[in-house]
Amino acid sequence: MIVNGVPWFDECGCTVNAHGGCLVREGETYYLFGEYKTDDENRFDGFSCYASEDLEHWTFRGISLPRQKRGLMGPGRIGERVKVLRCPKTGAYVMFMHSDDLGYTDPHICVAYSDTIDGEYEFIGPLLYQDEPIRRWDLGVFQDDDGTGYLLVHEGDVYRLSDDYLTAESKVCSELARGGEAPAVAKIGERYWMLFSGKTSWDANENYCLSAPSMEGPWTYQGLFAPEGSQTCNSQTLFVLPVDTEQGVVQMFMGDRWSFPHQKSAATNVWLPLCERNGVLCIEDYWNAWNPHTGKEIDFEAVADESIDLQFAAQKKGERIEILFSIHDDGGRAVLIGHTDCFGGYARVSLRGDNGDVIDPIWVTFYAKSPDDGARYMTPPLPAGEYTLVVEASGEASQWDDKTGQLFGGRGTEVIANRLLILEP
Ligand code: GLA
Repeated sequence: MIVNGVPWFDECGCTVNAHGGCLVREGETYYLFGEYKTDDENRFDGFSCYASEDLEHWTFRGISLPRQKRGLMGPGRIGERVKVLRCPKTGAYVMFMHSDDLGYTDPHICVAYSDTIDGEYEFIGPLLYQDEPIRRWDLGVFQDDDGTGYLLVHEGDVYRLSDDYLTAESKVCSELARGGEAPAVAKIGERYWMLFSGKTSWDANENYCLSAPSMEGPWTYQGLFAPEGSQTCNSQTLFVLPVDTEQGVVQMFMGDRWSFPHQKSAATNVWLPLCERNGVLCIEDYWNAWNPHTGKEIDFEAVADESIDLQFAAQKKGERIEILFSIHDDGGRAVLIGHTDCFGGYARVSLRGDNGDVIDPIWVTFYAKSPDDGARYMTPPLPAGEYTLVVEASGEASQWDDKTGQLFGGRGTEVIANRLLILEP
């Protein structure tokens, strides 16, 4: 089960802290790389790696690239959008990233490598094109069926990588998407689709796509790929990975639902099937949850064993609700359903069991640009027992300004919880 828009917990009960990264499949294992965020500052603290066999249970494999002692990925820098490709020619794993200063005025695309996918990567330095660093920020990568690697950067420049993936060999497209960020490519049949977001800092916007018969173009604008008005299901494009389902290969859209400043716990994932119908690329609908094996939606309301009505709405710091629930014999989990919109702020959510604390309070956001009623928090699988879920308004809004001083984010501190659903196997 892939559950969107809720914090995920790893094998130790910590939130899966891997944002703005990518997913790499190797044999039966998926490796998730991402930014190892903090809950207070926007600085580079390393890139993390998690592994899973089923896209649901994640094990922390460690920090793939720690903060360096000095230099482009050293103290006081930003490290974002980590991507990893296995180079077919050398067999090495090559990592690409955006390095910057804290004000985003010193962008570089950098490169690192490792002999093992989940080992510690060795930082090389800026990725060069014609012996010059590529001074851009958002990046994506794409590996074609013949092993050719491509680097995609914001505004829509596309570079073909050298055979060892360590330099950019030629620029195959320029400025395909002026004002575009967060590039990603999907190949469906013989057609290439390039996805971009607009530039609204950590806020979601209406992402769009282009398509072409080859990576070199010609690329044609194809409009939005997610339901109109949904702000790309309240997310920003990250990556696309083909996933085998009972219905055949499904291109899985991966988006970041950012949540500044508490990204470590409150930024979540939006992973949904992308399909091509009559020459149009689309995410048909937003699903709270789906099964990547069947490729089908899981309707929480329909499968829940129990539904507890809450009607909790709070704005002031400290206003809270304590929800008591039981998990029976074979274990289960609880899902908090709540409302998000532009007046939503942060809650602190924690879980207590019979024997004391199960999960310490984490930040959970109730802010969304496009209003939504859905899953906001899901407990990890729990053994039978009595539990209390505590949802407390923090009085804090999700707000920030970008480098030009423009204010983004929510206009309120509301926390609205509607129901707690109990799911048992
Ligand atoms: C955009 C980019 C992110 C990050 C933020 C910073 O969302 O896509 O990678 O740089 O801006 O505001």
